[in-house]
Amino acid sequence: MSEFLDDGRAALEWVERYLDGVGELPVLAQVKPGDVRAALPASPPDEPEPFSALLKDLDEVLMPGMTHWQHPRFFAYFAASASRPAILAEMLAAALNPVAFLWRTSPASTELEGVTTDWVAQLLGLPAGWHGHIEDAASTSTLAALIAARHVTGRNVAVGSEHAHSALEKGARMLGMELRRVPSDGEYRMRTDGLDLSDAAIVVGTVGTTSTASVDPVPALADLCAQTGTWLHVDAAYAGSAMVCPEFRWAFEGVERADSLVVNAHKWMLTPMDCSLLWTSRPEDFRSAFSLVPEFLRTPDEEDALSLSEYGPVLGRRFRSLKLWAVLRCHGRSGLQRMIREHVRLAGLFAELVAAEPGWELAAPQRFSLVCFRKEASDEENAAILERANASGEVFMSHTRLDGRYVLRLAIGSERTTEADIHRAWDVLRSS
Ligand SMILES: Cc1ncc(COP(=O)(O)O)c(C=O)c1O
Repeated sequence: MSEFLDDGRAALEWVERYLDGVGELPVLAQVKPGDVRAALPASPPDEPEPFSALLKDLDEVLMPGMTHWQHPRFFAYFAASASRPAILAEMLAAALNPVAFLWRTSPASTELEGVTTDWVAQLLGLPAGWHGHIEDAASTSTLAALIAARHVTGRNVAVGSEHAHSALEKGARMLGMELRRVPSDGEYRMRTDGLDLSDAAIVVGTVGTTSTASVDPVPALADLCAQTGTWLHVDAAYAGSAMVCPEFRWAFEGVERADSLVVNAHKWMLTPMDCSLLWTSRPEDFRSAFSLVPEFLRTPDEEDALSLSEYGPVLGRRFRSLKLWAVLRCHGRSGLQRMIREHVRLAGLFAELVAAEPGWELAAPQRFSLVCFRKEASDEENAAILERANASGEVFMSHTRLDGRYVLRLAIGSERTTEADIHRAWDVLRSS
């Protein structure tokens, strides 16, 4: 047996043990800043070490410093899961290691990216014929939309609600664009009354905002954009995956009129970091914004048109579609629907527990798998409850601020979360 196979078997067994037992570990890392670094040598080894030494240090040095995103009681930010088939596919992608900047540098990964983004478009009920490609993160996808919008409109103003993700503000800042924040209504949706987009390059409507998973009125934004020639970008980084279930499609009303759309498969579609799906209904505008082909990358014209590096900021591209393909094939539409429905059901259960408990309240309507809630107490007390609950290692949750008040968030996204985990989280919170 070769050393590589021995090491491979050990690594795979490690993964299986980890995924099987992750629920027994503290969710939030229990280390202090600098602890992990202090436990590692300051300089690299002079001589090669065996892979087994790395696995040993993974267990002894790195594991105490891991916050476990695969844990069934990881409820912070937007929880995510990397499923087993996608983990294996990630290894295969690393073995092939294509750098897909031109079609010819990796025809298969370039074309599989087209196929998988088409497949997901079908699963989410998007219009046929949109051009899809994969970026690393929604921040990059939104940056790309800002660039394309500014390129085609010649304008320099970006608009989003006060609850649009900070990626919009960061993108606008990096590009030197002016950002206008629009107030939201009582349910944290962007207000469109009196909204003037006449000088706006782009408006970002969010389907599933980060704080509350509220859904902006995309049809009204599309109407305004049609009148003013403004680019409509829809950020469905989290909630987009829910559209695989027809009962949630109401939230995508009007999205068929968008110029671009982002959905992160690495959030709620069982795909390991990173995999941000970016579609556009205006591929030629995207290409004209991004295409820059120096002599050393020139290929025959018909090949150039297929090179995905011409549709976004980055040249070298990973084989991200392989893990997405694994998810789509090994879970299928029904598997994804089952997971989404179960997470929304569990969120509903948690919301019921909160609503039924005197002294606690829901702070926003439950949307998808996110519950925003608080104890009817000061901000400081709510923050202290969260700190104590997280420090227990039993759960990891995060917070936001709504109408000036400190609010706790429980976001479900792990394929391992069960009803028992929801009850345990609630017990921990009430006793914290
Ligand atoms: C609605 C929304 N948009 C964008 C992002 C940024 O995602 P990424 O980390 O992929 O850049 C997030 C992250 O949670 C998000 O919730």
